[in-house]
Amino acid sequence: MPLISPEEINRIKNSNDIVDTISKYIPLIPKGKNFFGVCPFHEDHSPSMSVSKEKQIYTCFSCGATGNVIKFIEDYENISFMEALKILADRAGIVLSIGTIQNKGIDKNGPLYDIYDLSSKFYHNNINTTLGKAAKEYLKQRDIDEAIIKEFGIGLALKKHDMLLNLLVNKKFDMNLLMKSGLVVRNEHGYLDSYYNRIMFPLWDITGKVVGFSGRIYNGEKDAPKYINSKESEIFKKGELLYNYHRAKDEARKENKVIIMEGFMDVIRAYTIGIKNVVAMMGTAVTKEQALLIKRMAKNIVLCFDGDRAGEKATLSCSEELLKVGVTPKIVHLEEDLDPDEYISKYGKERFLGKLENPMNVMDFKLSYFKKQKNLSSEQDVAKYVSDVLEELTKIDDEILKELTLRKISEEAKLDVEFLKKQLASKEAPKKVEEKKIQKKKMNKYDKAQMYLLYYMLRSKEVIRLYNQKITFMPTEQYRNLAFHINYYYKLYGDINISSLIDQFEDNRELIRTLGEIEQLSLKENYTIDEIEDYLNTIKEYNIKNGQAELQRKLKEERDIKEKVRIANEILALKVRRDENDK
Ligand code: CTP
Ligand code: MN
Repeated sequence: MPLISPEEINRIKNSNDIVDTISKYIPLIPKGKNFFGVCPFHEDHSPSMSVSKEKQIYTCFSCGATGNVIKFIEDYENISFMEALKILADRAGIVLSIGTIQNKGIDKNGPLYDIYDLSSKFYHNNINTTLGKAAKEYLKQRDIDEAIIKEFGIGLALKKHDMLLNLLVNKKFDMNLLMKSGLVVRNEHGYLDSYYNRIMFPLWDITGKVVGFSGRIYNGEKDAPKYINSKESEIFKKGELLYNYHRAKDEARKENKVIIMEGFMDVIRAYTIGIKNVVAMMGTAVTKEQALLIKRMAKNIVLCFDGDRAGEKATLSCSEELLKVGVTPKIVHLEEDLDPDEYISKYGKERFLGKLENPMNVMDFKLSYFKKQKNLSSEQDVAKYVSDVLEELTKIDDEILKELTLRKISEEAKLDVEFLKKQLASKEAPKKVEEKKIQKKKMNKYDKAQMYLLYYMLRSKEVIRLYNQKITFMPTEQYRNLAFHINYYYKLYGDINISSLIDQFEDNRELIRTLGEIEQLSLKENYTIDEIEDYLNTIKEYNIKNGQAELQRKLKEERDIKEKVRIANEILALKVRRDENDK
């Protein structure tokens, strides 16, 4: 972080208490010295994240996510260190002493981003020329006006095969990279643009950088696919993004609600009537990454997919994925097979907003979906219906919803509620077992000595000093690295502070993970010198033993007699040391 001083970083951290900050995102409950909350970084169902007011750090006992207040914002909002710092500075009313926010480090994908950025400007410019008249007319007839075209960066690929190609070649981009971007293709005649005469919709990653396009036909070409998406690349992974995420996330947080649609046209249309907390899946099945992204956006999740059979199916599978990450979505079902865009055109803004305000709960949606295919006057169908519904109930966490649904089907199927409860319990039992927490790795005594020592090094200068006096080497690489960073920090600042130490880690995940592992030991805060000596001796013993094994191996291989004698002496010296250590 060369741009900003550690003092300034500390000032910002000191003005943003970690418990207050995290509370803005997830509810925290005090327990003992710490606070606990449901971890937003994995599929957590019970509060596994512990937040320490005293240490100003958090750690999740289930997935190991660990960090300070800046790291939390970075990971929660999916933004860079500098962006997180800026948010925290703003909240505290501190003006950062740098003019522009830059991403730290050099991104190896920089040129690829540049290609997309330039291309989107180029396409957008096209639509504003006279050649863009027909495209604008098409958009206008779909109620998309100038302001929306600008906001969504909508553009146009012209009726020429090499416009973008020439521009990008002139800008000296490497041809291989252009091919990799998917915006340029090659045929028997040479290179040409991928997109020809289509309205271009930029697709953004979650930070708001253009990483792809979807191009739509607009004058009724026959035999052409309606949309063509640019191919996936290192920066464009369809399963990891949601259309409009970067624009919707603040609005979603404000309203504590996010609406999910199938198509990006639906999102754009929703904007025209003032709905801004909305994202789209873009016609693919929701992935776990997307489900987690959605979960982080807001507490209330509303699915408003197309009203047709395909949309219903997509609603079910999306709900499934959301339930798996602990989110119970609400459902809006649009009549007459309409999609949101068509619904708004046909019935207007007010009626659509009314639909959004009155979503169904997910179980009611499922009940009606199951019922559609069945004849409930047939006993066989009733049995299948009940069994389908019970199966669905095993997937949800919401106990009230379970109870309500059980009562509903009890009436419909004329079966006793208590009987249904028992049936449900027997279906649920085997699933609960699978959900066991990640097994903590088994520690041998050497791991234990290193980990315990690190735990206290993170808390005491005295222990760091003892470590440096007695040994300066931990046998296990991950612990050695952490010890190195602790030492380095101590040498720089003459003290140790976990929260600041984390800032020095930059993006080293291995170090953060190790720190998390150590923090989760939650040992008693006070140590005795004897205990520390004990850990140090154990580590020393291990180092000596290791050294000895290495020397034995060398001795065996060595041909030179003088060298053999030297090694033998070294082994002897080690043995003496070991005996002393044992005393
Ligand atoms: N899609 C696609 N390729 C297609 C059709 C659809 O990639 N040939 C994706 C697009 O991302 C689109 C989503 O699936 O946003 C939903 O498709 P659909 O409902 O067919 O599109 P609409 O949103 O209704 O688009 P329009 O109103 O322009 O027809
Ligand atoms: Mn549509």
